Amino acid sequence: MHYFAYKGDDLYAEDVPLEKLARDYGTPLYVYSKRTLLRHIRAYSEAFGGDPSRGDESPMGIVSFALKANSNGAILGLLASEGAGADIVSGGELFRALRAGIPASKIVYAGVGKTADEIVYALKKNILMFNVESDEELEKINRVAGQAGRKAPVALRVNPDVDPLTHPYISTGLKKYKFGVPIEEALEFYMKARKMENIEIIGVHEHIGSQLTRIAPFRDALEKVLALIEKLWASGIKLKYLDLGGGLGIRYRRGESEKPPEPAALAKSLLPLVKGRGLTVIVEPGRSVAGNAGVLLTRCLYRKKTAVKRFVIVDAGMNDLVRPSLYGAYHEIIPVRRNRRAALKVDVVGPICESGDFLATDRRMPAVLAGEFLCVLGAGAYGFSMSSNYNSRPHPAEVMVDGGEVRLIRKRGTYRDLIRGEL
Ligand code: LLP
Repeated sequence: MHYFAYKGDDLYAEDVPLEKLARDYGTPLYVYSKRTLLRHIRAYSEAFGGDPSRGDESPMGIVSFALKANSNGAILGLLASEGAGADIVSGGELFRALRAGIPASKIVYAGVGKTADEIVYALKKNILMFNVESDEELEKINRVAGQAGRKAPVALRVNPDVDPLTHPYISTGLKKYKFGVPIEEALEFYMKARKMENIEIIGVHEHIGSQLTRIAPFRDALEKVLALIEKLWASGIKLKYLDLGGGLGIRYRRGESEKPPEPAALAKSLLPLVKGRGLTVIVEPGRSVAGNAGVLLTRCLYRKKTAVKRFVIVDAGMNDLVRPSLYGAYHEIIPVRRNRRAALKVDVVGPICESGDFLATDRRMPAVLAGEFLCVLGAGAYGFSMSSNYNSRPHPAEVMVDGGEVRLIRKRGTYRDLIRGEL
């Protein structure tokens, strides 16, 4: 559910026509809807946050937004004001999360390649926990924590070997992937961690993949992790936190073909299994909070027809939104001003010097003329955050719409920015 819709023939973000934004701020332009972001984060906090006033026995759950999906400070600040925590995978993300006002006590840190400097930084800031992904990483955290005179709070990221039924590049919870420790080895890992002087075991973490459109894999993974938790109990290891990862999918195609479940349905399926165990649940949604809360506006520069193809050449390229090129991802592209021209089959391509630079291939859409604006939907997650300066293209600007108001939340990059730091 989002607040990008036509009013008459004009596409709006909430109460603001996108055509006006494209003209005022230029293109390519990322546009976010505050109302949509709020709706999504609240759906999670209502589903997983717990409510002591209802007499929920478990402490409040924590909703830790995955910064990798979108790390703009204005968006993080908004989510922080809603009580969100953060799921981070680098020192840079920790910096951004703290700067945006996300409390360290709600920050969880995953990632297979944490450096000593990053570990020290996170220890100093007192994050909630490190989601540890390997034996050697655990040893390093123990060592670094000792040198810093601290005890490091850790969870083990287990790899439950469950097929999330999603794109292989965004699957994480199968044995063949680099993430986590195989669940069969987890007990041994905890036994080892227990003996380490500077490690405090507080949780377990799992994440099986992204853009999951079914609940069954989440449940299968949770059942495996709960079996592990029972074994740990039997061995005298009592955990406080159960981090279920992120991954709930969104609808990239209009119509009925994709129907990812809502956070409430996920909670309804998973939380009863956890109840009564004294565990605080953490969830780490990224895409399902930000994805449909953002669009990318682009202008058609030229049209071009060859013997075999029609191209719509636009001013946004794979450096601005890489998902179609990298994953073959589908993003809906619709005109900012609706027209009644006949539909044509086209490739929507960018200006980058790569044949793989496209936003859509063989797409049927109403004819577009040079100068007209197009809107790429579902671009709020893994859009700007994965953008680059490839072909020396400055970063696009970002704006946030709130009802009828618009706020620039990131200036368009400049040529000067391109050479910043070069000596
Ligand atoms: N937690 C962990 C440990 C993760 O690895 C991820 C995503 C998330 C949370 C957030 O997952 P989400 O709720 O956003 O599905 N660039 C890819 C997606 C990569 C996701 C990697 N991990 C894409 O554009 O589809």
